Amino acid sequence: MNRLRALLGLQLPLIQAGMGGVAGIRLCTEVSRAGAGGTLALYKEPPDRIREAVREIAAATSRPFGVNVIPEVTSPELCRAQLDAALGELPDNGYVTTFGLPGADAARDVTRTGRPLVVQIGTPDDASAALRLGADVLVLQGTEAGGHLLGELPVAELLYAVRTRHPDAVIAMAGGVATGADLARARSAGADGAMAGTVFVPTTESMAHPLFKRRIVEARADDTVVTGRYDIGWPARPHRVLRNALTEENRRLPATFIATTRLGAARIPVPRYSATVPGVRTEGRIDEMAMYCGTSCDRVTAQDTAAAVVRKLRHEYEHELSYEREGGTWTAPSNR
Ligand SMILES: Cc1cc2nc3c(=O)[nH]c(=O)nc-3n(C[C@H](O)[C@H](O)[C@H](O)COP(=O)(O)O)c2cc1C
Repeated sequence: MNRLRALLGLQLPLIQAGMGGVAGIRLCTEVSRAGAGGTLALYKEPPDRIREAVREIAAATSRPFGVNVIPEVTSPELCRAQLDAALGELPDNGYVTTFGLPGADAARDVTRTGRPLVVQIGTPDDASAALRLGADVLVLQGTEAGGHLLGELPVAELLYAVRTRHPDAVIAMAGGVATGADLARARSAGADGAMAGTVFVPTTESMAHPLFKRRIVEARADDTVVTGRYDIGWPARPHRVLRNALTEENRRLPATFIATTRLGAARIPVPRYSATVPGVRTEGRIDEMAMYCGTSCDRVTAQDTAAAVVRKLRHEYEHELSYEREGGTWTAPSNR
């Protein structure tokens, strides 16, 4: 049995990335029901909303799903309060993913419940640190990835370096995976599976703004760029986004309000260079906002439901693996 699948209880060794402003209740539920790792982004959400959301997902799927925290954008106190709220409602088969290394206390909050701790990192040293913190799965993020970047190595180099150091670690790679063939290649390169974000942004259930969804489908890898521009609300972390007038402009323009987004009944102004993604409830200059996107957009060419995306990936993956060409040996489905 594939180790990532076995550990998380998945049908396919693929985790959907928690994506702030994109991966809400519906996306997480549908990915989980389809047999991959649906993940709810907690980003800066307050604990009471988290409790409700996790309860709602748990009522809608009996398959595993997870929650995602970003310790570097929350205070240690908020991160632990988010985890406390989520873990109180998360079924026993749920898991927790973190963007970057969690604090030792936060890591312990998860591991002592017996639920898998999935830590995304971008350097070999952070991979070792994550294992010391008790991580059950390492997600190795390469520079191909969409969103904020944890390191400076392409995913293949990072995978090679970490696999050499930690031959027994359960590893998922993040960056460059949008098809079942990509997933099969990740396995051949030595990973146990993958985490993917970009491919889920244009799905029906994602909370991304319709223009953001369309742009990802139309984009090629060359249309993405690594920049430090969108630093309001999440400073000092480079990120891969779709190019636009702001990323191509040499000068830094004033951070005046360019859009609004709704939080409950309130409308919240969004400054130029905000790290916030344009969502379904955002109005204004959507074009100038941060549209995080990985180079895997090359192979994201249609808009579909999350279930259809997972089905397609699974079909392609099983096709790739059904016959191991070199050895010509049949691999039983349960071993994939
Ligand atoms: C729109 C978008 C938002 C993201 N937000 C988060 C987030 O909130 N938390 C997180 O752990 N990772 C986030 N990521 C990064 C993913 O965890 C992952 O590294 C990335 O999606 C992998 O590359 P891919 O997008 O090419 O599949 C985000 C990625 C994208 C594309």
